[in-house]
Amino acid sequence: MFLTTDPVGEKTQILARMHQLEQSTGLSLEVVELDWSFNGRWLPGTAPPIPLDLLNSSQKAPWKPQFRQEDLVVTFAVAFAPKLGVVGRKRVASAAEAELLRRLFTVAVRQLDADEQVQQKDHELECLVSHVTHLYEQVHGIFQVSRSLSLSEPFEQILSIIEQSSVATLAAECVCLLRSSADGTSGPLPDQFRSVGSEGCGTDGLEVIAGQLRNRIGSPVFLRERDFEPHIIGPVLAVELSQLSQRIWLVARRGPGQPEFGSEEASYLLSISAMLEGHLHNADLYAEKDELLIQFVQSLVNSLDARDHATRGHSQRVAAIGRILAGHLGLPEEDVTRIHTSGLLHDIGKIGISDAVLKKTDPLTQADWEEIKRHPVIGHEILSNLPVLADILPGVRSHHERIDGTGYPDGLAGEEIPLMARILAVADAFDAMLSLRPYRQGLPVEGVEQILREGAGTQWDAEIIDAYFASRESIVARWNRMIREDRTHVRSA
Ligand SMILES: [Fe+2]
Repeated sequence: MFLTTDPVGEKTQILARMHQLEQSTGLSLEVVELDWSFNGRWLPGTAPPIPLDLLNSSQKAPWKPQFRQEDLVVTFAVAFAPKLGVVGRKRVASAAEAELLRRLFTVAVRQLDADEQVQQKDHELECLVSHVTHLYEQVHGIFQVSRSLSLSEPFEQILSIIEQSSVATLAAECVCLLRSSADGTSGPLPDQFRSVGSEGCGTDGLEVIAGQLRNRIGSPVFLRERDFEPHIIGPVLAVELSQLSQRIWLVARRGPGQPEFGSEEASYLLSISAMLEGHLHNADLYAEKDELLIQFVQSLVNSLDARDHATRGHSQRVAAIGRILAGHLGLPEEDVTRIHTSGLLHDIGKIGISDAVLKKTDPLTQADWEEIKRHPVIGHEILSNLPVLADILPGVRSHHERIDGTGYPDGLAGEEIPLMARILAVADAFDAMLSLRPYRQGLPVEGVEQILREGAGTQWDAEIIDAYFASRESIVARWNRMIREDRTHVRSA
């Protein structure tokens, strides 16, 4: 009964083994398909008949060659699979020849077995290399994304890196964020999630995918090409970002005719979405911390204003002017914000100055000035207990230093004075000279500017004085507006 059926892939393999055995032994062999309804009996219709029980002893590697000898006819057999084997017969001249052939057949089968084991190991190695390569690509993608997850990095930039890394790692046509909720809100994202791969995915395609995701529960979601009519969209893998107010999905799409996504790709995309969720959570916490810090700083400034009505609003104006100067100097936004905060708190040390001096309406004596000059150090000491404010301390401590080294409290000169303090020194002097004080009238803007011009390079940093004159219109306008708002506030209070 010769090969009436063909177990998948086995027929070719066993024919190849048969030819190899024939070459090694010189025997004439044939492949038989076993029919166990004849179990243990001679296969009918063959002459001479084949003993099936010979093929019943071994069905997987290492294969066991089997023999039967009747008179001077030796039957050779080996089973390569449950229903497939190789058999052959040979008439020999003597018992010695029979023994020689048995040994030859045994060696040939063992060689075949060894060759196949080597091939199997080679195949396993290839699979392993492919798997490791794939894993490496995934780890590399995750590494790239994790490196980009900095709170100082613009969110659009982070999403762009996620898109680029994931497209490469997943062999996808596009990767994007998508909104799809059961209430019908769907499509490309309008707010901070905008970007991000939506051009590559195509707006029409996103609407179709969003429609499929709308009522899905659970994540990840695998969509096959045939889920889309017409088949303009290939396989889609989507994972949902949890703990957001809207249903946001991270979606990867392949082109039509491409292989479907599998569990490894899902695992990668779940890792990316988990990192993204963590980042969004941290960003929320960071914003919350910023808000708390702003409230805290504001309450400190209010307490200073409450003690010293004469300088009410001074800190806010110095902060605002410092911000304009820093912006004009082209400093990064984080530095501009620090300078603003430092401006708000630059005189906070006056909390530690006695009322007798702070609220004095007569001209100040030398002793009074000596006490007032302690306020930068007092402010520094108060705020240095708060690590979160460490980066604004230079402005608090050094805003009364002078470029020529004759300022206080440390007598720093030139660039020894932190830039933050050099900027605030100009803003502080501008507001102090312009403002009305109990012991003197405020100067006109022209007078203030004359003094600033004369003090450039000795009292103040000449570059920052230049920045003042380059932005004087916006500074004066801002100052006047703040004074008006403050008066309105006082009247209505
Ligand atoms: Fe001051």
